[in-house]
Amino acid sequence: MSKIQKIKGVADMYPPESTTFAHLEQTARQVFSRYGYQEVRLPLMEPTQLFSRSIGEETDVVQKEMYTFPDRKGRSLTLRPEATAGMMRAYIENGLYSPGAVHKMFTFGPMFRYERPQKGRMRQFHQLDVEMVGATEPQADAELVLMLSTYLRTLGMRQLTFEINSLGCRTCRPRHRAALDAFFAALPGADELCDDCKRRTGTNPLRVLDCKVPRCRELTASAPEIEEHLCADCAGAYAEVQAILAGAGVEFVKNPRLVRGLDYYVGLTFEVTSTDIGAQTAVAGGGRYDGLIAQLGGPDVAATGFAIGMERLALLVSPVGQPAADFFVAVLDPAAPSPALALAQELREAGLTGETGFASGSMKSRMRAADRSGARWCLLLGGQELADGSVTLRDMRSGEQRTLPRAEAVALLASRE
Ligand code: HAM
Repeated sequence: MSKIQKIKGVADMYPPESTTFAHLEQTARQVFSRYGYQEVRLPLMEPTQLFSRSIGEETDVVQKEMYTFPDRKGRSLTLRPEATAGMMRAYIENGLYSPGAVHKMFTFGPMFRYERPQKGRMRQFHQLDVEMVGATEPQADAELVLMLSTYLRTLGMRQLTFEINSLGCRTCRPRHRAALDAFFAALPGADELCDDCKRRTGTNPLRVLDCKVPRCRELTASAPEIEEHLCADCAGAYAEVQAILAGAGVEFVKNPRLVRGLDYYVGLTFEVTSTDIGAQTAVAGGGRYDGLIAQLGGPDVAATGFAIGMERLALLVSPVGQPAADFFVAVLDPAAPSPALALAQELREAGLTGETGFASGSMKSRMRAADRSGARWCLLLGGQELADGSVTLRDMRSGEQRTLPRAEAVALLASRE
């Protein structure tokens, strides 16, 4: 019979990658909780409209990358391509808003985008997503960037670039849009833009600045930059964020073309890039998205956040192995497997990590299994030990061994941990 294979762009994950993922999650819990964040868990499926209304009709994500399907009653559902929209849907639906309160939440899990798979780019990938709702101040944005930097440094990463930009607000965005409209209207060679960009010059010209097609990038190299159009508030907030980051020793570069791939951003946007993960350089990205919650039918409350791509992060941190075992209980007598299991159970309840070989295989292969386990201690159960309730304890480092009552051996090992 033919074997069934996994679909393109998804991965089965085993150690060391799965242990590395667990390490990324555990470190995130530790670091983010220091900043007052709480973990939430949200559905992987949402109504399609949630994403088209928040991410934006003109984005690649909504136009080309969503896994959208009708359920059995014909309702259009989508596997989440990102977490922010769902986080905000849940924030509204669960009535979390209270005036003046700041909500800090994070989540992690799989996201789905129909993209061309390559190193660091999957169709089912994982994000660590962080959102802060209720703070308008530039210090809130700066705190997010500092937390991201602390998290990445805690994981041992040094060679990272923070790119930042400000996309302006409801006041200054229209001024930039007008300048962009004028630029595209007068652009010689506009008909050489890619088909997406041709359309977007009319619908959402900011998106054109995000196009990866080399000819589009050349043609728009001198497009008006948002920074020239920022209102006093946005310019002040942007300067404040830069001052805080510089003061904290976080290195950053300003990238006026950092418009991000999703439409909900206003104000500060940022990305962390690394050249060590092939063509896909963005490890994390985020920014402010005031207005999104109101757009989804909630209160007009400010919000900011970021997401980290866990596959890309896993390529950058050293793989995390399983911790070495403490013990191995070797079965040396045909009657020993059950007593061996009972002993292993006692040791595990005392907090130790280890295995017991069941009875299969030759004596030699069972001793080899003890060696291979890499355990610190080997406990041998043979006929003599079974008869008098003892165990022979071998120190696998020194090779020394002695026989002692089983309860004493358990107490000894437990006290050494
Ligand atoms: P994003 O830039 O679309 O932002 O995705 C964030 C990160 O997810 C990227 O920097 C990348 O590391 C990873 N990523 C995206 N697509 C893939 C893929 N196909 N395969 C592997 N990794 C991928 C967002 O999703 C926003 N929701 C972030 C945010 C949160 N903004 C505010 N709050």
